[in-house]
Amino acid sequence: MSATDDSPKGLPNHASVSDHELKALVRERFTKTAEVFGDYAVAERVAEAELLARLVAAGPGDVAADLACGPGTLALRFAKHVRWMCAYDLTPAILQRARQSAAQHGLLDKLGFAIGDAQTLPFAERSLDLAVTSYSLHHISDPARVIREMARVVKRGGRVGLIDIIVPEDPKVRALNHRIEWIRDHSHCRSLTLAEFRELMAAAGLRITATQTREHPRLFDHWMHVAGWKPSDPEYIEVRDLMVSSIADDGSNFHPRFEPADVCQPGASPALYMINTGIQIAAEKM
Ligand SMILES: C[S@@+](CC[C@H](N)C(=O)[O-])C[C@H]1O[C@@H](n2cnc3c(N)ncnc32)[C@H](O)[C@@H]1O
Repeated sequence: MSATDDSPKGLPNHASVSDHELKALVRERFTKTAEVFGDYAVAERVAEAELLARLVAAGPGDVAADLACGPGTLALRFAKHVRWMCAYDLTPAILQRARQSAAQHGLLDKLGFAIGDAQTLPFAERSLDLAVTSYSLHHISDPARVIREMARVVKRGGRVGLIDIIVPEDPKVRALNHRIEWIRDHSHCRSLTLAEFRELMAAAGLRITATQTREHPRLFDHWMHVAGWKPSDPEYIEVRDLMVSSIADDGSNFHPRFEPADVCQPGASPALYMINTGIQIAAEKM
């Protein structure tokens, strides 16, 4: 990949944290927040999951996998479209949550569950019709390898779909964006640009069939809450300060802004909002 190292000096990044250390950080983060993050992702990402299902033309004949599935954000929705799907994740606690949700919704006959690393998939070459992943690649030290693995395990003409946050090319903006993401979540490795996603997919022999960029407005406090922080935590305060100081020039690309307090709550202070920019990409194996 041709991208430069955009991490600010002094901050761990994809080059300075080993794959082993990063995976330990991932397991720690998504064990600690399995419930609070799981509740958010499953409830709030339904429209995104359904959009991806449409973009990759998920259908009743498909044998599929959701890699780094977390609480089953895609798998629980895709189960309604495909023949069978494997929900695969590194973190046992969050995968257990996905399994419980599947049981509650009567989906256990449509879903299988497996623990493992998305960089090394346990599926045979050309054994699946469809492989998808969402909001995972920025947590993984070698996203190119995940995309190559997705391309390896789908049949010729099979489909690959991904969702993730993206960052702009500007190195200064990337650096501040990374600083904020990393203080909030030490398992955040590196956000990619749209050009990097395109490059990785082409290099894996995947032809992009659709892309959609979407903006997701978030209440800053809730964004921190799902990462396990409360307003009195030093990390919360540091991230908030960085976010507020980037309001004037949007130097972080989070488009932060204050909104007037709810008229129903006289005396309440204005709330800080921000935006996560996400991309959906559908591709076909050539
Ligand atoms: C931000 S969550 C996204 C979960 C879900 N896909 C969603 O969209 O809500 C990231 C997930 O990636 C998983 N993960 C991170 N690194 C991984 C790896 N190398 N292999 C498999 N799963 C991984 C984490 O355990 C976590 O469940």
